[in-house]
Order: sequence, then C-alpha cells, then structure tokens
Amino acid sequence: MARCFVTRQLPGRALARLHSAHQVEVWPERLPPSYDELTRHAAGAEGLLTLLTDRVDAQLIDGATELRAISNYAVGYDNVDVIAATARGIPVGNTPDVLTDATADLAFALLLAAARRLPQAIEAVNAGDWRTWEPGRFLGYEVHGATLGIVGLGRIGSAVAKRAEGFEMSVLHTGGAGEVPLERLLREADFVSLHCPLTRATHHLIDAAALSSMRPSSILINTARGPIIDQEALHRALSDGTIAGAALDVTDPEPLPAGHPLLSAPNLIIAPHIGSATHAARERMTELAVENLLAGLEGAPMPHQVN
Ligand code: DGY
Repeated sequence: MARCFVTRQLPGRALARLHSAHQVEVWPERLPPSYDELTRHAAGAEGLLTLLTDRVDAQLIDGATELRAISNYAVGYDNVDVIAATARGIPVGNTPDVLTDATADLAFALLLAAARRLPQAIEAVNAGDWRTWEPGRFLGYEVHGATLGIVGLGRIGSAVAKRAEGFEMSVLHTGGAGEVPLERLLREADFVSLHCPLTRATHHLIDAAALSSMRPSSILINTARGPIIDQEALHRALSDGTIAGAALDVTDPEPLPAGHPLLSAPNLIIAPHIGSATHAARERMTELAVENLLAGLEGAPMPHQVN
C-alpha cells in the first residue's frame, strides 16, 4: 500500500479503485491546496494525483523524497516540472483523448458566441432592454463559409477542424502536414483558435505584433492555456479595435483577480476554464488519472505517460 495524495475530489467512481489499493488522502476543499500545503503533503507521499491548479515544480519534487508517480488530471502538464520528475525517475501521466471532443465543442461554442455577440444579447434581455426587433442591433459576423485559423493541429485542433467542415469554413492551420506560416494564418483568418500546448516557444505567441497582423474583423479564441496570449497586448487590441473580439476559456492567472483590466475589456467573453467540463469527459479523466497512478506505483509504464 502506497501513500497517495489527491489534490481534489474528482467526478465519477474511479477514485474508489485507488482507495481500495492504496492509502489515499483527498484534499477536501473547493479551493486547491496552497503551494505550501501541497509541498507538505507531497513530502510524505509516494503517489500524487494533481490538477492543473497545482504547481509541481522542481523544489516540490526535490522535497518529496518518497515520490514514485505523478498523475496529472489534464491533458496539459505545463504545471508539472517534467524535467525534474524525469531526473528523479518519476513517471508523469496525463489524460489525453477523453476530453478532445468536449474541448473542441467548447471552442466552437465560444467562436459562435463571440461571432454572434450572444452574451451581449442575452445580457440585454436579462436587463429588460429588449424593446423591439432592431435591424441594426447586435450585428455579428458570419461563421458559415468564413476562414478558421487553427494554431496547433493536434488532437483538439483537428477536432475543431472537423466541426468547421459542417460550417463549410476554409481551414488554415499550423502544425502537421499542409501547415501554413503563423503570419499567414493570422493575416487571412476570420477566426483564430489556439490549440497548442504552453511551452517556452508558445509563451506569448500571440503578442502585440501577432494581434496587429490580424484583421479588424477577426475574433481570437483560446481554449488552450492563458499565457499563450500576451494579455496586455490583447487588452489594447480589443480597446483600439485592432481585432473585433476574443473568447477565452483560459487566462493568466486563473482566475483573473477582481478589477483585472481584462475583465472590463470590450468584446471579450471569458469562461472559467470549462473546456473539458462535461460529465463524460471529467469522469473519463478520473479513470485515466487513476489508471496512470496505479500503473506508476506498480512500476509499470503508465497508459498515458509523458516522460
Ligand atoms: C486540460 O486537460 O489540459 C484542460 O485544460 C482541462 O481539462
């Protein structure tokens, strides 16, 4: 029996499998453990099941002398210092595939909502400001037949491209066969949707220069990771009309603190990182995260191991 620390309650039943095999402590709060609390729990743990809200850095890994497996409840694992884990021989797992369609659906939902100004229109109804049918109010952009730029044609980017077929959109993409340079994609796309992982190379990939090469009628969608966009540059681009709008499921930091300038930027929709938030996806993520941890603790390869 290994000592495991799980940093939040997780949907579905799979955690029961971990409980029956190991000695498991689950962080019971709605908010994540602080870095210090996580470090303290990790110090006595052989297995860690973490979320994207947990910073598992080299210092934490260093202090966790008995740690043998890290299972991250997300496809992204930029919160884990994989190099430090690998140097210690600790396998790191993630949860790919099971959230691909849910996240692609959300990217498309944000694209449609931003294009058709849905939040603004609904807000007007809720505020009692639906006076009559107005020919010039809430005018948005056509999605059907538009050009979609997909930055990062991996699993989720490809799933978004499939959805675009139904809207008869032209798709430009970076990554994979047939890719175009990012500059061209930004210049020609009506909608730009980000699906690359957060790495040193993609940090602030969408900066002031990138935004200024987009069209004034373009809309930017981000369901990947917040720091891929330079948020100060995005705020300026939305305020001065460099681009028409943006829809973010991810920000830097998460959540944005009260009063953060981005919260009052014009033509911006922000969702609270719900890309994978369907019952099915989140339950399957629990299953994969548990399978990864069980395998790692047994010394077997994890079904989804990133190192
Ligand atoms: C991930 O898996 O990386 C998403 O951001 C959350 O499910």
